[in-house]
Amino acid sequence: MIIPSILSANFSRIAESIEMMLKAGARTFHVDIMDGHFVPNLTFGPELVRTLKNEFDLILDVHLMVENPMEVVPWFEKAGSDWLSFHIEATPHAHKLINMIKEKGKRAGITLNPSTPVELVYPLLDEIDFVLIMSVNPGFEGQKFIPSTIKKINHLKMYIEKMENGLEIQVDGGIGPDNLRNVLEAGANLIVAGSSIFKSNDPVLTFKLMRKIEKEFLNK
Ligand code: DX5
Ligand code: ZN
Repeated sequence: MIIPSILSANFSRIAESIEMMLKAGARTFHVDIMDGHFVPNLTFGPELVRTLKNEFDLILDVHLMVENPMEVVPWFEKAGSDWLSFHIEATPHAHKLINMIKEKGKRAGITLNPSTPVELVYPLLDEIDFVLIMSVNPGFEGQKFIPSTIKKINHLKMYIEKMENGLEIQVDGGIGPDNLRNVLEAGANLIVAGSSIFKSNDPVLTFKLMRKIEKEFLNK
């Protein structure tokens, strides 16, 4: 699944950007929540999630880059997030937090920074729906893909293959038509893409090209 990240959309025309992607066949949108502490940037709050959920028929994949996920998860649940992921580096209570998210019927994900070993999520794999492996240091769109991510995705993929629990692997940062195949081959299936789509000359065309690459990979 190719998931457009609205962080790269034109904020003065956010509705148009979303409508354009919905028309192109996107259904799930990535929403980056940054608090200026966990990451050196500030973005959106629950009101944006609430507004988007009310205005459009879409699935919102909310990526929390905040220092206090325990406190803010309920805000984003209430606002209408469908998927919620938080960084394992931000809390010693990941297990508790996952339960909070699952209790509300949401899909729960754990996110790992590039420097965080993937083995850290192993004890929690039975509890979650997806692992989000960051392929850039979180905080900004438009950064370069970190190559060691491929190995990390692959390790996790090989580990979960034995488990057969339907766990998905999401990857976020620096992905576009040029390196999409590499991340798919490594084992990721939920692909977040911001600037490669929205900052391209033709976002719809780029999105469709990425879908085509994904389809070809799945049919091979
Ligand atoms: C980065 C965010 C990403 C960002 C990706 O901190 O978590 O979701 O939107 O943007 P690109 O695809 O441009 O790297
Ligand atoms: Zn993100």
